[in-house]
Amino acid sequence: MKSNPKSARKSIPVYQPDLSGNEREYVLRCIDTNWISSRGEFVERFEKGIAEYVGVSHAIAVCNGTAAVHVALVGAGIRPGDEIIVPSLTYIASVNPIMLCGATPVFVDSDPKTWHVDPDRIRAAIGPRTKAIVVAHLYGSLADMVTLREIADEHKLVLIEDAAEALGSTLNGRQAGSLGHVSSLSFYGNKTITTGEGGMVCTDDAVIASRMRKFRGQGLCAHREYWHDEIGFNFRMTNIAAAIGVAQLERLPAILEAKRRLAQWYAEDLAGCNIELQPEPPGVVSSRWMVAALVENSAVLAAVRSTLAAGGVETRPIFAPIHRMPPYAPVHGRIPMPVAEDISSRGLNLPSWPGLTREDVAHVSSLVRRAIDEFSLAVPHRVNIESLEVKTMPVGAPRSAVVA
Ligand SMILES: Cc1ncc(COP(=O)(O)O)c(C=O)c1O
Repeated sequence: MKSNPKSARKSIPVYQPDLSGNEREYVLRCIDTNWISSRGEFVERFEKGIAEYVGVSHAIAVCNGTAAVHVALVGAGIRPGDEIIVPSLTYIASVNPIMLCGATPVFVDSDPKTWHVDPDRIRAAIGPRTKAIVVAHLYGSLADMVTLREIADEHKLVLIEDAAEALGSTLNGRQAGSLGHVSSLSFYGNKTITTGEGGMVCTDDAVIASRMRKFRGQGLCAHREYWHDEIGFNFRMTNIAAAIGVAQLERLPAILEAKRRLAQWYAEDLAGCNIELQPEPPGVVSSRWMVAALVENSAVLAAVRSTLAAGGVETRPIFAPIHRMPPYAPVHGRIPMPVAEDISSRGLNLPSWPGLTREDVAHVSSLVRRAIDEFSLAVPHRVNIESLEVKTMPVGAPRSAVVA
């Protein structure tokens, strides 16, 4: 019996790592030599490799990207009572460590043209207790770090770059992770390069670097064994994780090339369709960590996601605004963030891993197209769109166009 090629199609996850280089060999070397904890050649090699790639003097490996944000805040000297300006539209790990430092997040809305924090809103949010700005680069695109650095320098604030999603992206030729005073990276399994779980903090500032190293390693005093003159965590990365990282870093240029190519395929396949791919701001070359797009409204989003799911294609929604989440809403939930709400209500991530073939992307794109076309044909006959109470705003529209 002949198999039906359509039913034989494999399912397509939104992300999966590519471990086809030296990962296995390097991990086995850790096991064969007994160097499986946080000491060993690979941790140092990985730190050195990332420092060189990003273009910073110090890179310190940690156990995940959330710990990296925490370590960066401590390195920046954040203390209880400080206020930290942070976007509402980011992953939760940009914000929770602020609370864990005893500081207070001050949420700001995003710019609809870039999806990143709006520099004007940052200026307006600065107060006497403001100590730092945490900027999260979304999905590989980069925030306007030139303006943000000017604002930070003018107000003597530390600019912390949460570059978890942006390794390999550049702004005017400079690497993400080198654009703030201190930065954090993540190497979770779905990141541009992975160590399973892992992270890194980067800086050019020797004082920040030594604070971060100490906090990562139990607050251990540099010159006396088992003497801890500060409170710290064990946030160290294992040699095994770093071994995977070293192998991944060897292939970073090829991974980036593949990811940028697949983003270009999506752009070609979805041209003319009523969907808007995340913009690439001037001067930015995005790693295209996750191909992100906006559809017309949340009803279309639901239709697209369910059509793709039925076709075996996994998607993800864009992050939800953090100021509306239970731990933050009682204090911050009523602040209107129309841009974050809007992007979150109708945005999604399409499969974005480097091993996707031209045919895979064409298949995903054809399902997106079909869902959007079918929705626009079906909706007028089925329901009155007004009754769905979907608030929409074209990206780039003035903020007054949005119902808060
Ligand atoms: C913006 C941002 N910051 C921090 C993190 C935290 O990284 P990890 O999952 O490695 O803790 C992530 C992870 O997805 C992220 O997207």
